Parts: sequence; C-alpha cells; structure tokens
Amino acid sequence: MASIRLGDEAPNFIAETSEGKINFHEWLGDSWGILFSHPGDYTPVCTTELGTVAKYTDAFNKRNVKVLALSVDGLEDHHGWIKDINETQNTTVNFPIIADENRKVSELYDMIHPNADSKLTVRSVFVIGSDKKVKLILVYPASTGRNFDELLRVIDSLQLTAYHKVATPANWKHGEDVVVSPAISTKDAEGIFVKGVKEVKPYLRITPQPNLD
Ligand code: BEZ
Repeated sequence: MASIRLGDEAPNFIAETSEGKINFHEWLGDSWGILFSHPGDYTPVCTTELGTVAKYTDAFNKRNVKVLALSVDGLEDHHGWIKDINETQNTTVNFPIIADENRKVSELYDMIHPNADSKLTVRSVFVIGSDKKVKLILVYPASTGRNFDELLRVIDSLQLTAYHKVATPANWKHGEDVVVSPAISTKDAEGIFVKGVKEVKPYLRITPQPNLD
C-alpha cells in the first residue's frame, strides 16, 4: 500500500472496537477525527496517553473532533486495560479502541515500522478533516509519549486556516496574531481582515486572529 500523504482521503475501514463494530467514515460523520495508534495494552506510556486523551474529552468535543485509538491487541485485553486506565489515571475512557489483531488497519495506515518494531504499532496520529481528508500526520517512537496539548494546538490551527485565508506562525496558540496567506496581496488583505494588517515585509503580514470577537 502506498503511504498516506497530507490531502489524501483517509482510507475507510470496518473494524472491531471496544465500543462495537465501526465503519470509520460512517462513524466520523461530519466530525473531524483523530486516529491514533499505540504499541500495546498494559504498557506504562500508553496508559498515561489514553488517560490523558480521556481527560481531554471536553476539549475535543468543543472542536467537533472524534477520537479513535488502535493497537494490535484483542478486545479482551482492551476491556481489561480500560479498567486499569480508569483506575490509575482517574478518568473514564469514553472513546473506542480498535482491536487490530489482524493488522488490517495498521497496515492500511502504515502504523507498523518494521525497523522500529516488527510486530507492534508505533505512535502514529492522523488528523482527519470533516471532508475526510488527512490534515496532519505525526509519528512518535514507543519510548516517547505524545503531547496532546500540541495536538489541540494544531487542530486549532487546522480549523482556523481551513476557513480563513491565514496561516499560523511558529509556536502560535489560539488567540494570538496570525499571518496573512502568501496568496493574498496586502491590498486585498486590508479589505478582508478588518481588524488591521501590519506589513512587516511584503511577504510577512500580521493580523489578529480573524474568528475572535
Ligand atoms: C509504553 O507504552 O510504555 C511502551 C510500549 C512499548 C514500548 C515501550 C514503552
């Protein structure tokens, strides 16, 4: 299978999960989605990661994002491990975990990197837009837990730049100034961005985040 690239349609699949069988595209509906893999159930870093994702439910809901986890372990392991996550991370896992024992989804999404580990999935993240297109791909090794604040930050940028002709600068956070898309002239930008445009260089124009009151 050719690798998945930004802008591609996220491949659809049907999978068994801890919350029943899912048709990925139907399950996503009109929402944005995060599909993320972890190396294995009953492992320490993964336990903290899935607990953190559960605690971020409100933040994902606010952004209209549905979350779907995956490992190559089976349903029985998932159900037992979810109890451990809830207990040790003081939360309630309220999103499905794919039981990808036959590696169908892992292979479809190239989540097994044989030179890192021949059997287990790495820590892949795919952010999928409401148009079912892949907007972001992240890959972390098993030894490094992910930063889910960064994931929320990127989703804020993706959702802002999907609807406004802006891009977000280094280390940008929701509420901070953004840059005008290079495709727009400064003259046109001044008409579009009513809060003002500062031209630092002809190619570097700053404007307040447009979708705030
Ligand atoms: C973990 O989640 O802690 C982990 C899983 C596989 C390899 C190393 C760490």
